Amino acid sequence: MRLFFAVDFPLEIKEEIHQDITPLFKYYGVKWVAKENYNLTLAFLGEKDEKELSQIDRAAKSVSKIDELNNKIGDFGAFPNLKRPKVLFLKIESPGLLTLAENLRQNLTENNIAFDKKPFVPHLTIGRVKGEITDLYLPKIKPKEFKLTNFCLFKSTLTSGGPIYEKIKLYEILRNT
Ligand code: 2AM
Repeated sequence: MRLFFAVDFPLEIKEEIHQDITPLFKYYGVKWVAKENYNLTLAFLGEKDEKELSQIDRAAKSVSKIDELNNKIGDFGAFPNLKRPKVLFLKIESPGLLTLAENLRQNLTENNIAFDKKPFVPHLTIGRVKGEITDLYLPKIKPKEFKLTNFCLFKSTLTSGGPIYEKIKLYEILRNT
């Protein structure tokens, strides 16, 4: 099964983001992420065997408490950059999140669980550009704040209608006070 760890967003935040970015849906050359799939990936594990699950679970359970639970979903960003966007995202600002992702990744390494080692850039992917967009006009969006309360292990099933993400485990995030 294909697995990844991610922070899910409150439903009302997903809804607000979707509303905010509606003016962008006129760009047809982009595969827009379904709003129910908005997430903040902490670590992408890829294809894993059932028997690796207990090690994966152990790594997630031993994640340490973090100092700061506040998060802000901010402005647009893109990989490799906004001039030639391939992946369009919203930036997420949160010092606590960096600690969380680093700690989770370290625990995965200690438990011999392989994952995608691309550096962690906290983001919420909204679309993947298939062709090229040269006239991208980005709407103004209101920053949104939320508190980190948990992160999840997701199973991803790829279908012709797009990926289906299912939460298979939920881990509470505790504040370090
Ligand atoms: P993202 O990082 O652009 O948000 C499930 O595929 C989730 O894991 C998606 O949100 C996806 O995109 C993220 N992800 C991170 N690294 C990935 C990889 N190497 N392959 C597929 N998805 C990846």
